[in-house]
Amino acid sequence: MTSPLFTPFALRGLELPNRIVVSPMCQYGAEQGSANDWHLMHLGQFAMGAAGLVITEATHVSAVGRITHRCLGLYSDDNEAALQRVVEFCRRYGVVKLGIQLAHAGRKASVHTPAQGGKPLAPDERPWTTVAPSALPFGPGWHTPQALTGEGLREAKQQFVASARRAARIGFDLAELHVGHGYLLHEFLSPISNQRADEYGGSTANRMRFPLEVFEAVRAVWPAERPLGVRVSATDWVEGGWTPEETVLFARELKALGCDFLDITSGQLDPRQQIPFAPGYNVPFAEQVKREAGVTVMAVGMITHARQAQDIVASGRADLVAIARAMMDDPRWAWHAARELGEQTAYAPNYQRCHPSVWKP
Ligand SMILES: Cc1cc2nc3c(=O)[nH]c(=O)nc-3n(C[C@H](O)[C@H](O)[C@H](O)COP(=O)(O)O)c2cc1C
Repeated sequence: MTSPLFTPFALRGLELPNRIVVSPMCQYGAEQGSANDWHLMHLGQFAMGAAGLVITEATHVSAVGRITHRCLGLYSDDNEAALQRVVEFCRRYGVVKLGIQLAHAGRKASVHTPAQGGKPLAPDERPWTTVAPSALPFGPGWHTPQALTGEGLREAKQQFVASARRAARIGFDLAELHVGHGYLLHEFLSPISNQRADEYGGSTANRMRFPLEVFEAVRAVWPAERPLGVRVSATDWVEGGWTPEETVLFARELKALGCDFLDITSGQLDPRQQIPFAPGYNVPFAEQVKREAGVTVMAVGMITHARQAQDIVASGRADLVAIARAMMDDPRWAWHAARELGEQTAYAPNYQRCHPSVWKP
């Protein structure tokens, strides 16, 4: 019998061979937003490794939407050509489906990379003016963003649309919009970061309005046969913030607009957050959203072992599991999970001779 983790899964016209997803992981290695050899190696290694799906790091829809000077983007012809090269490499040699995460960092933009401390850029470090729903900084010492006006909102939405068109041209099989981790679209959802007095602020319906408009606009240009989903933080982990119950409402609205899956993460909107990190700590939220909104969900967060991932899928708490740090630690995680669970999984042709069954005594 096929183990649940290695059961195929269909999303629109895309057939995933198993339920394992390589979660987006910023590399802070791009130049002017363009991918380079680092990305070829980073995504290329996962493309060999037989997860069902590999999702790129947050790929920003504008230069001001980047977290750092070194973040990946998809807002210029050069960015498109550079990412195309990486995708062609993954297609030519790899065995996985490829997804892209489209993102805008909002008020968390214009900072140093985590390796350099992650703090806001100083005046002599080419900082830029950040944008957000309201002119409220992420925390003490952070840049105060400019509140987006009507024109700014239209522009940000069009940037998501333009990047989605580029991603479709490059040939990504799937896309997800980043509506989590305290970045621009999440900032609209949360009453902590969104204190607007217009139709984009106030009630839950108003706070959801801009992310839903962006989703709808992207869905309209994203090819009909390809899945489009959303990564959302199910809670801010702060009193008075965005809640799991609101996430369920958001999921229902997204589903009505043709959203194919929700990728359930949490937190990162407010430095006061208290996250009870533990194995599978976001799985209860994924389960709740799946049960109450009737949508396909991906769970992420400290899913590290094959049997843990298998149990999450087998118990129906999530349809897909996304894995980040354990994948960086072991890019062949899916091969090893397959072996542990007695399953077969695809090997890139050039690597077939390393399967232990053909050489190990
Ligand atoms: C180096 C690194 C970069 C990350 N970059 C992104 C990103 O670009 N977009 C995103 O949604 N999450 C990002 N994350 C979060 C991961 O996708 C994932 O949600 C988180 O690490 C929890 O999963 P894990 O316990 O399997 O690592 C990043 C995590 C790491 C470790």
